[in-house]
Amino acid sequence: MPGFVGIRRVRLDNEGMAEIIHNQTVDALLNRCSIRAFEPDEIDDDTIATLELCAQHAPSSMYLNDWSAIRITDPEKRRKLAEIGRQSYIGTAPLLYIFVIDEHRNAQIAQRMGVDVESGEFTLNTSYRFTQAQNDATLALQAMATAAESLGLGSVVLGTVLGDIDAVIDLLELPQFTYPVLGLALGKPAQQPEVKPRMPREVQFMENSYFGDELTTRTRMEAFDAEVHTYYDLRNDGRPEETFSKQIAKKAVAQGVLQSGLDHAKRQGFRLDR
Ligand SMILES: Cc1cc2nc3c(=O)[nH]c(=O)nc-3n(C[C@H](O)[C@H](O)[C@H](O)COP(=O)(O)O)c2cc1C
Repeated sequence: MPGFVGIRRVRLDNEGMAEIIHNQTVDALLNRCSIRAFEPDEIDDDTIATLELCAQHAPSSMYLNDWSAIRITDPEKRRKLAEIGRQSYIGTAPLLYIFVIDEHRNAQIAQRMGVDVESGEFTLNTSYRFTQAQNDATLALQAMATAAESLGLGSVVLGTVLGDIDAVIDLLELPQFTYPVLGLALGKPAQQPEVKPRMPREVQFMENSYFGDELTTRTRMEAFDAEVHTYYDLRNDGRPEETFSKQIAKKAVAQGVLQSGLDHAKRQGFRLDR
């Protein structure tokens, strides 16, 4: 696999009872990590076509295909998005996409077929479709990221581009029934971060019903907390990460997220109360 850097860490199942089966796909997924520094090399048209086609082949709720992705090549728009997201690599990544919920295209099709999209019978702008279209867009983005990884490229998902949703809507001229979901920056990696630890499988995967025993979960999380504390995030000036629990406590009261709510959906014609 081009660009494949080998297994950085062979993982055993958390309980040590099962051994992980390795192949190129599994290893690519287990070694994936977000890349935030890119070589300046341009991404060629064949690669772009391949990545876009892989994204299109992701599953789609009700086969509505209700997402679109906008490739940002205009330097001024990139600069503005980097400013909105407050992350310089948004401006410098060789390839940058903003994935959007897109019921605009479907509304046009339905209208052409005689549906009155301004009437109450129209449901593509309701809350269920909004969330499912968001799922579609996210799955497509992840398919693109995985395809990129398999081709030796790296990527980072960008939620911070939603730091100013109105500005993104204006910048990308998003029409009625569209809404920004996430950005994806891609390129040839210019860094090799450590694979970031994940919590014990038993805490995240449950059987038949929700497992909520707080004490057992807490005990299992202690070792994970310690592991996260040994992880060095390249963004962190050589300091180890805070424990997972400390991070959660901080993020649980982060006020910045309030500006990225769904208030702006109404402006785009969505009726999230339906
Ligand atoms: C929905 C979503 C939004 C994210 N937004 C950002 C972002 O704006 N900037 C960034 O640098 N990383 C972003 N990330 C990447 C996460 O920080 C990263 O996936 C997480 O810390 C785990 O690290 P890893 O991807 O290296 O395993 C985002 C990831 C997701 C899934």
